[in-house]
Amino acid sequence: MFKVGVVGTGNIFKQAHLPGWLSSKDVEIIALCDAFRDSAVAVAKDFPDAKVYDDYNELLDNPAIDIVGISTPNIFHSEIAIAALRKGKHVFCEKPDAINPLEAQKMADAAAESGKLLMTMRNNRFSAEAQFMKRLMDKGELGEMYMGRCGWIRRRGIPGRGGWFTTKELSGGGPLIDLGVHMIDMAMYLGGSLKPVTVSGSTYRKFADQPDASGQIPSGTFDVEDLAAGFIRFDNGASLQIEFSWASNIAVEQKFLEWRGTKGGFSLINDKLNIFTEKEGALIDEQPSFAAAKIPQHTANIQHFIACVLGKEQPIITPEQGVDMIKILSAIYESADRGKEIRL
Ligand SMILES: NC(=O)c1ccc[n+]([C@@H]2O[C@H](COP(=O)([O-])OP(=O)(O)OC[C@H]3O[C@@H](n4cnc5c(N)ncnc54)[C@H](O)[C@@H]3O)[C@@H](O)[C@H]2O)c1
Repeated sequence: MFKVGVVGTGNIFKQAHLPGWLSSKDVEIIALCDAFRDSAVAVAKDFPDAKVYDDYNELLDNPAIDIVGISTPNIFHSEIAIAALRKGKHVFCEKPDAINPLEAQKMADAAAESGKLLMTMRNNRFSAEAQFMKRLMDKGELGEMYMGRCGWIRRRGIPGRGGWFTTKELSGGGPLIDLGVHMIDMAMYLGGSLKPVTVSGSTYRKFADQPDASGQIPSGTFDVEDLAAGFIRFDNGASLQIEFSWASNIAVEQKFLEWRGTKGGFSLINDKLNIFTEKEGALIDEQPSFAAAKIPQHTANIQHFIACVLGKEQPIITPEQGVDMIKILSAIYESADRGKEIRL
């Protein structure tokens, strides 16, 4: 039985990590840490034997802990992950891996040096639709993927306005780093072994000073973008258009991924999958349907992590992929600042 220590007991921990850890008979939560101690204390009511901390360094000094789960604001991911790996713990960390490429690389290096497993949450890969498409793509059924589009565009949906999400120093950015990491990862996972080479991007911050529904401009910092768009080129010639917003004047929220391949294409729009091919001179549209998921995506991701710690599965999410992801996001911000394409 592996012993888990958790750092950060906020929303995503309660909604997604807790059910994930509890779904496994191979792990047990023995320690809870939150900088806001009352949050960890509240969770600990269901874990009477768990130790409670408000300083993660003290949790890491607990030799009984084998696995550290990180679900703090983005800025703290890398420092906690690196410290945990150096203490010989396996690490499961929320996305985004880090807020800049240097930190992401340090995490990957710490994992390699420690020989322990470092995995970052990529829950969207674990939907039935994504797994089905992965099997088709790996068999080459849609041919060579050359042009993709992905995004997550919200009409209104700024998370924690005025809090850490909208404070660049703590989050690293707005919807690009928050939502982009999910959908660009899915695009690269399903598009093949894609190595990014150049990016170009624009970012906008148009809602920070707009009043909310009550007519007030909310207090607190809002110094990140609320919309980002861009273009990524990969070393095999494929390219990907991207668009992410927390707020923009569009009809409805849409989460989308589309790839066009030489033998067929597909779109996954708000979790609805469509496949487009041509057979015997006819254009074929297929809408695969799936039974309701037995387990939620986040739980499936955590179960995969545990299976990898146990040596039963090979990681499908690697620290190197995390470094590439953060390089892409960071270069899109740089491109937006400098008004030019950036080579990675
Ligand atoms: N994969 C997903 O679907 C998904 C969804 C939402 C959020 N997230 C990610 O999860 C992370 C947390 O987001 P959230 O919405 O739960 O935020 P949150 O603000 O609800 O929770 C964060 C918690 O971390 C605590 N904390 C802050 N600094 C700390 C520190 N140094 N040490 C220990 N605890 C600390 C806070 O007190 C808070 O309880 C973020 O990185 C976010 O990007 C992922």
